[in-house]
Amino acid sequence: MNSDNAVNYPSHRFSVAPMLDWTDRHCRYFHRLLSGQTLLYTEMITTGAILFGKGNYLAYSQEEQPVALQLGGSDPQALAECAKRAEDLGYSEVNLNAGCPSDRVQNGRFGACLMAEPELVADCVKAMKSAVSIPVTVKTRIGIDDSDSYAFLQRFIQLVSEQGGCDNFTLHARKAWLSGLSPKENREIPPLDYSRVYQVKQDFPHLTVAINGGIKTLDEAKQHLQHVDGVMMGREAYQNPGILADVDRELFGLQSPAPDVAAVIEAMYPYIERELSQGTYLGHITRHMLGIFQGIPGARQFRRHLSENAHKAGADVEVLRQALAFVTGKNG
Ligand SMILES: Cc1cc2nc3c(=O)[nH]c(=O)nc-3n(C[C@H](O)[C@H](O)[C@H](O)COP(=O)(O)O)c2cc1C
Repeated sequence: MNSDNAVNYPSHRFSVAPMLDWTDRHCRYFHRLLSGQTLLYTEMITTGAILFGKGNYLAYSQEEQPVALQLGGSDPQALAECAKRAEDLGYSEVNLNAGCPSDRVQNGRFGACLMAEPELVADCVKAMKSAVSIPVTVKTRIGIDDSDSYAFLQRFIQLVSEQGGCDNFTLHARKAWLSGLSPKENREIPPLDYSRVYQVKQDFPHLTVAINGGIKTLDEAKQHLQHVDGVMMGREAYQNPGILADVDRELFGLQSPAPDVAAVIEAMYPYIERELSQGTYLGHITRHMLGIFQGIPGARQFRRHLSENAHKAGADVEVLRQALAFVTGKNG
């Protein structure tokens, strides 16, 4: 493995993928309690939202660190400005999305369609890198539409690394169809080809290369780590977050015991109380916890209790306490 990778902060050995509407700050706070080592990504945030939007899109809690901000955009100056804001706010990394295939994203000329414009991606990375000293990374696919040869991918990586100075790529190991498939279908229909990603690491051994797509267990992650520097997990980590409780021991070699998942839920109470006092709805936080007890007796009642009650007006931490009692058997 690349020697930089051992000392780079943050480590890319294991990360939870950027996922729109899923990996918001509440989700990341929760995931962090399950794993101290995993690198967490924000949802994709567009440069337009950051520069011209009304919301505070870059808000996060320090406890979530290390957190990487994923940006959507294709204007080098706008990306550089957003990267600077991210660095000033303490984000650990800025990642450029060159892999999302939604129509909305294509209209803005960013996301996966950027794979067709490696020179532009290189310009974007270069501009961001000259604005910040935190790592600037790129997440992309292994191809788009009929541009799905290894040579196409190789040229993309070569240009973006040599001209743009990007030394860290995450590759979703399937191509994207830019028209005809929904984003969801684009995560399921194009076949996975992990060997393409391994090939990139072989051909560019000086780059940090992380693999993404369809990885569901930590054993699979370990297999991939024989070939690449990092593994990014998306849907499985979100739907079955309990898997994160084993990451620090299994993938980072930490000796400390895995956190007790019920204790992690309890550790969310002070955060929830703080957030509720600032106007957040309970359901916006607990929606990320629904899958936590997968396979454990009481999981279904936990889930149902939260689904039925967390969105009600005035719902507070007591609702979560009651839900937890279905699993722990402890009342009160
Ligand atoms: C709900 C959802 C939202 C997503 N949003 C983003 C996003 O904002 N940026 C991005 O690069 N990828 C996004 N993705 C793709 C994931 O980051 C990841 O590449 C993909 O799900 C494949 O990994 P997996 O099989 O481990 O889920 C999203 C995926 C899902 C399921």
